[in-house]
Amino acid sequence: MPTIVFASPKGGAGKSTSAVILAAELARKGAAVTVIDADPNRPVSAWARRPGKPAALEVVSDVTEETVIDAIENAAARVPFVIVDLEGTASMTVAYAISRADLVIIPTQGSQLDAAEAAKAIRLIRQQERAFARRIPHAVLFTRTSAAIRPRTLQHIRAEFEAHGVPSLETQMHEREAYRAVFSFGGTVDSLTEAQVGGLDGAIRNARAFAAEVVGLLRQTQTAAAAA
Ligand SMILES: Nc1ncnc2c1ncn2[C@@H]1O[C@H](COP(=O)(O)OP(=O)(O)OP(=O)(O)O)[C@@H](O)[C@H]1O
Ligand SMILES: [Mg+2]
Repeated sequence: MPTIVFASPKGGAGKSTSAVILAAELARKGAAVTVIDADPNRPVSAWARRPGKPAALEVVSDVTEETVIDAIENAAARVPFVIVDLEGTASMTVAYAISRADLVIIPTQGSQLDAAEAAKAIRLIRQQERAFARRIPHAVLFTRTSAAIRPRTLQHIRAEFEAHGVPSLETQMHEREAYRAVFSFGGTVDSLTEAQVGGLDGAIRNARAFAAEVVGLLRQTQTAAAAA
């Protein structure tokens, strides 16, 4: 059903990390989830080959510019959540995936330079909205932020996006070692142990809050679409 696309031309913005954390949390709650690994570097596929991938989470790997729309359509017909991870450049694959999204999440770190890259993703989404004559709901996700401090820069960037009609998620993906560890050890924040990495409770709470907000947002956009 709903397709959630992670997009940003900025390399290292946190697309793959946030996509896997979201997918793992949805799967833990019992939903079947398909992650389409549309990045030629295949970071999600590499994660999935390690032990501990939830049974409800499937990764589709060999996706190219030619097959990405088919992959999204096939998965959307089968499972309640489709998540697409994209490479950190502008490409036809990125444009095609955005054109099929029910929600585009634009991860960005909280600096002005990063926000300028996020703005490029937003321009592409708006182009696709015009090309396909439909609304494509989207929101900025702040990543790698500090759980301890709330910098004013970030509040300012959030307000600027808001002023341009771009909402940002209330939940941030804080900088947490556990999110890196998932890619080293495999599995999810729930299958890691304190012996492998500290701060699991905070990482788990953060993942839960992120997934709950995304599901809420999808509900809202679907209700709005049905009413239109
Ligand atoms: N919330 C987080 N906490 C800690 N580390 C993070 C977090 N998000 C991302 N990282 C780290 O930042 C780096 C880049 O993250 P990631 O690979 O998810 O970004 P990306 O947008 O998918 O990059 P690319 O454009 O290259 O695909 C990785 O080393 C990852 O471990
Ligand atoms: Mg990536």
